[in-house]
Amino acid sequence: MEKLIINGGNPLHGTVTISGAKNSAVALIPAALLADGPVVIENLPNIQDVGIYAEILKEMGADVLFEDDWMEIDGRPMNPAQKLNGKVKKLRASYYLWGALLGKFGEAQVGLPGGCDLGPRPVDLHIKGFQALGAKVENQKGMMVIKAKKLKGARIYLDLVSVGATINIMLAATKAEGTTIIENAAREPEIVDVATLLNNMGANIKGAGTDVIRIKGVEKLRGCRHTIIPDRIEAGTYMIAAAATRGDVTLENVIPKHLESVTAKLREIGVDVEEADDSIRVRGQEKYRAVDVKTSPYPGFPTDLQQPITALLTLAKGTSIVTDNIYSARFRHIDELRRMGAAIKVEGRSAVIDGGNKLLGAKVVATDLRAGAALMIAGLVTAGETELDGLEHVDRGYENLVGKLHSLGAEVRRVGRAQTDKNETNAS
Ligand code: UD1
Repeated sequence: MEKLIINGGNPLHGTVTISGAKNSAVALIPAALLADGPVVIENLPNIQDVGIYAEILKEMGADVLFEDDWMEIDGRPMNPAQKLNGKVKKLRASYYLWGALLGKFGEAQVGLPGGCDLGPRPVDLHIKGFQALGAKVENQKGMMVIKAKKLKGARIYLDLVSVGATINIMLAATKAEGTTIIENAAREPEIVDVATLLNNMGANIKGAGTDVIRIKGVEKLRGCRHTIIPDRIEAGTYMIAAAATRGDVTLENVIPKHLESVTAKLREIGVDVEEADDSIRVRGQEKYRAVDVKTSPYPGFPTDLQQPITALLTLAKGTSIVTDNIYSARFRHIDELRRMGAAIKVEGRSAVIDGGNKLLGAKVVATDLRAGAALMIAGLVTAGETELDGLEHVDRGYENLVGKLHSLGAEVRRVGRAQTDKNETNAS
């Protein structure tokens, strides 16, 4: 296993360029399979999830060219009967192959996904959506067998706001006969990004970014080029890291609007945040206020930054309560933060932080992607040495982590494997 050794205590200073959005990339790649021609996706983050997706597509017979920060995907040579298991367990978003293959071939045989262990992560809404479109869905010992003689548009109300179900239904409905209406749809920017790609391929999708999405099925889709939006979660992580280390960091290639809830919360804590057209400057302050944070679907505060902001709130004197309304068990970082001296307890869906204790370097383990980000931030704050194990989780979501942190003046190094990093990460 790989580790990150952090010699913390340096305020982060300088400029960091934010990569393309992971959660868009892992949906855009399967979406590209729907086209009857090559699709080029640009500004692709070079992270493990993207590399794994490229391997899965090749296994299915698609033509894939993956270079640096772009990928060309041609799904035409694909084998519709290919069963997929194994690699799909390495990432959560492999479930988008269900919708994409169902839309393309009328069938998908793809195993249940893996991804971070955040407590129960059901897929019932995806299944209900496919069934409403006329598909039969069977779970054959972990292999999802989804088949439809003909997909027909339907009105689908999502009982819960789900990013994954919204995108998956959109993928399947793009080539269905007639109109599909998704009500109570998720509104995340990544959904708009996927709809933009599909529309550029010739789909007819309206309302993405609102809670009602209308999809008029089309017969054919064509190849095109698409540039991925910036990763608001990577950006939020660096904003929080800049604040926690009392640094001064400018983030470039961001869409400040996508980060409104994060900016507002940081300002409430006492951080100085300045927004420009496509950059954000974050200046840390000596003293911070304890605040409460509640996660909710976009445009609310993202659950993916719940763990990182908890690390920041350990520095604010007083009691902060961080409640995760999306995932009930996304608190596996808490024990590790306690190991570093933080006074935090978990009560139900909330972390109750008694802030103001000095954090100490320690040996800690990243149990999931954003837990790793939280511990990395805590490590950057402490004056001693922090050994962060389980770095493979963090690599799933942060491009060139060590390179970017170095450029901001952090003392970090990776140990535990031959350096294969292109400026340190090369997951392809
Ligand atoms: C996506 C993001 C993830 C983020 C999450 C919430 C990707 C690849 N991942 O995950 O980073 O943390 O959104 O913003 O984009 N639910 C059900 N049944 C379902 C589907 C979801 O009960 O069929 C529940 C989930 O357990 C969760 C909530 O709905 O409590 C939201 O989940 P969802 O938005 O679907 O998360 P993901 O798309 O998996």
